[in-house]
Amino acid sequence: EKVILAYSGGLDTTAIIPWLKETYGYDVVCVCIDVGQESELEGLDERAKVCGAAKLYIEDVIDEFCDDYIVPCVQAHAVYENKYLLGTSMARPLIAKRLVEIARKEGATAICHGATGKGNDQVRFELGIKALAPDLKIIAPWRDDKWKLQSREDEIDFCRAHGIDLPFAADSSYSRDRNLWHISHEGLELEDPSNAPNYDHLLVLGTTPEKAPDEGEVVTMTFEKGVPKSVNGKEMKVSDIIRELNTLGGKHGIGIVDIVENRVVGMKSRGVYETPGGTILMEAHQQLEELILDRDTYTVKKDLGNKFADVVYEGKWFTPLREALEAFVKVTQEYVTGEVKFKLYKGNIIRMGTTSPYSMYSESIASFTTGELYNHKDAEGFINLFGLSLKVRAMKQGSYEKL
Ligand code: ARG
Ligand code: SIN
Repeated sequence: EKVILAYSGGLDTTAIIPWLKETYGYDVVCVCIDVGQESELEGLDERAKVCGAAKLYIEDVIDEFCDDYIVPCVQAHAVYENKYLLGTSMARPLIAKRLVEIARKEGATAICHGATGKGNDQVRFELGIKALAPDLKIIAPWRDDKWKLQSREDEIDFCRAHGIDLPFAADSSYSRDRNLWHISHEGLELEDPSNAPNYDHLLVLGTTPEKAPDEGEVVTMTFEKGVPKSVNGKEMKVSDIIRELNTLGGKHGIGIVDIVENRVVGMKSRGVYETPGGTILMEAHQQLEELILDRDTYTVKKDLGNKFADVVYEGKWFTPLREALEAFVKVTQEYVTGEVKFKLYKGNIIRMGTTSPYSMYSESIASFTTGELYNHKDAEGFINLFGLSLKVRAMKQGSYEKL
């Protein structure tokens, strides 16, 4: 029987290969899914084979990640607990989907992942697998009674005992998860929320606002129907736009977030996220959208965007609710087309103007002189009706003058 292992090439998932063979007698098919983590993929095939894997797949899903996962989250302005741009959360369902596809192709009966029993990632992987392939067995070594390895040293010893002698460094680093959209940092000094993050040691994608250039940098972007199309006049596919914005944002200290968040499994956890390009992209999209959506649509979209964020955070990507929310958002994007200009300066995104052929902003209506579409006198009747219940209440039940 075959098992599909979500494999990164790191120590944990390496030790899992011999463990799966020995404990369950499986043939192990390793799958490394490239969502832009920039890890060393060269030599990974040989490495997996040396460790006893029957086969290794390396799957580049970066463009699918951008088009089908990131863009819907940008359009929905999906932000968890007001701060977290969901970088890890949105990648997990895609990884689960590709694991299932390969499991089918290989005729495997189980999928194994290396997420711990304390986090959100186990929930996201497993909800994804359950939704797409309810018959597949899920193996999570970190929760498995047969897994006896308690530390990195245990894992290194276990690997050696199985003829795997690779240069794994003793780990003194943060727990990180990186993809095209972001990098997350947890652990070390962050585990105590009374500590300030050690930014000099921690940051990977950029610099702090303090160390950013003293000179700001002006950027223009265009969108078509809510999808980003160009940066500084250069048309690019979404993945290249995000790469470009990551470079720009990292340089100017954009998108660093320090948060104590509520995990799905009940605990609070402290983390730092770097989402330089993503922060710019969401802000730019919002800058344009403000000009276009009517007030009622915007109000509902804001609420549903928060709901969307919760759904994504909880790993409920493959659900009718996510599909329905995404469909609503898509309709709102029909006229989100135009150009935005802004300046990046020491952690800030400063607006410098927005244009759209579908802008609902009308200078003649908004300006203080009476135009044809807006008669100041109409406001009086409107306010009379809008305020009628307040007036009746004050007359019948007393006014609020005591407050
Ligand atoms: N707390 C974040 C989330 O739940 C990041 C998780 C990072 N995962 C990791 N394996 N280090 O989405
Ligand atoms: C893990 O425990 O595997 C990482 C943290 C998380 O999933 O939230």
